[in-house]
Amino acid sequence: MPIIEVKNLSKHFGAIAAIRDVSFEVEEGTIFGFLGPNGAGKTTTINILCTLINPTSGSAAIAGYDCTEDSSIVRKSIGIVFQDTTLDRDLTAYENLMLHAYLYNLKKSEMKDRIHDALHFVGLYDRKDDTIKKFSGGMKRRLEVARSMIHRPRILFLDEPTLGLDPQTRANLWEYIVDLPKKHNVTIFMTTHYMDEAEVCDRIAIIDRGSIIAGGTPEELKKTVGGDVIHIKTSDNTRARDELEQHFSLEVSEENGELYFTSSRGDACIPEIIQTLGKTVHSVRLQRPTLNDVFLNMTGKKIRDEKMSSSDTLKEDVRAYRRRFGRS
Ligand SMILES: Nc1ncnc2c1ncn2[C@@H]1O[C@H](COP(=O)(O)OP(=O)(O)OP(=O)(O)O)[C@@H](O)[C@H]1O
Ligand SMILES: [Mg+2]
Repeated sequence: MPIIEVKNLSKHFGAIAAIRDVSFEVEEGTIFGFLGPNGAGKTTTINILCTLINPTSGSAAIAGYDCTEDSSIVRKSIGIVFQDTTLDRDLTAYENLMLHAYLYNLKKSEMKDRIHDALHFVGLYDRKDDTIKKFSGGMKRRLEVARSMIHRPRILFLDEPTLGLDPQTRANLWEYIVDLPKKHNVTIFMTTHYMDEAEVCDRIAIIDRGSIIAGGTPEELKKTVGGDVIHIKTSDNTRARDELEQHFSLEVSEENGELYFTSSRGDACIPEIIQTLGKTVHSVRLQRPTLNDVFLNMTGKKIRDEKMSSSDTLKEDVRAYRRRFGRS
């Protein structure tokens, strides 16, 4: 039985349909990525699964328990790292975890060990007596992951756990997160807008404007993009283009002095192409589709709206989109 079962879930806030008819399942011990642009409905879905709000229609269940009907049972089996930090700035790291342990009614005899284990797990034991005010963004996030684990949840919800962190700190946090399914058999449900982070997911669902528009493993999703993109520089692009189109029936485009085309068997066709074009070839570059390409392909936009705000970035996005998918 899947540990998370969501069936035809919808949530309306007045006239706004935050999520519409959303259905998916998550298997125990896996990492599930819920990806979508701003306002897509990710946090709303998490809030329903975490029993913080009720759906307008449809159902959500965790370990067989309904998130609305059996909310107190559901709460015992989940841990949450919210999109916005919820640590108490004036308390120490230790006190923040202690507060959580009390809220979850942990036995006094086991509190200390659990808190120490959690602090060691995220590498913050040495800073346990510092107040949160003195913590960096990355340390706060790590402490929140530690806090969410104190009551040993079966499922951990991470809503943009690495938002605003630098790449090194992000990588460091992920080292802890990806270990959880293996070490503690925890199922992870996460949202992120960093597509490279979604590579660690066993399965992904992409949500846009409240509806799920695609789902699968990262590899399955990348296959939907339609193959690898091959870029070639030659001493005579006009001739090379003719030859490629004639010999291989390819649809070849040109940009910045480089020819490019899509192939479903990128590495296999490169030797044949070099043989055909001979010494006129200066360089060949193969680009595998990334999850970013999948996202762009599915939603027609980058995962963050603000990235579209600068006109230069926008032009670059449009160019990249055309280059990849040959559409305007
Ligand atoms: N309490 C609320 N009252 C009214 N509208 C809401 C409420 N919560 C969410 N919404 C609306 O529902 C939609 C989905 O919001 P949600 O927070 O789930 O998006 P998200 O995918 O988490 O976005 P982000 O990536 O920005 O965090 C948005 O249009 C949002 O304005
Ligand atoms: Mg959100």
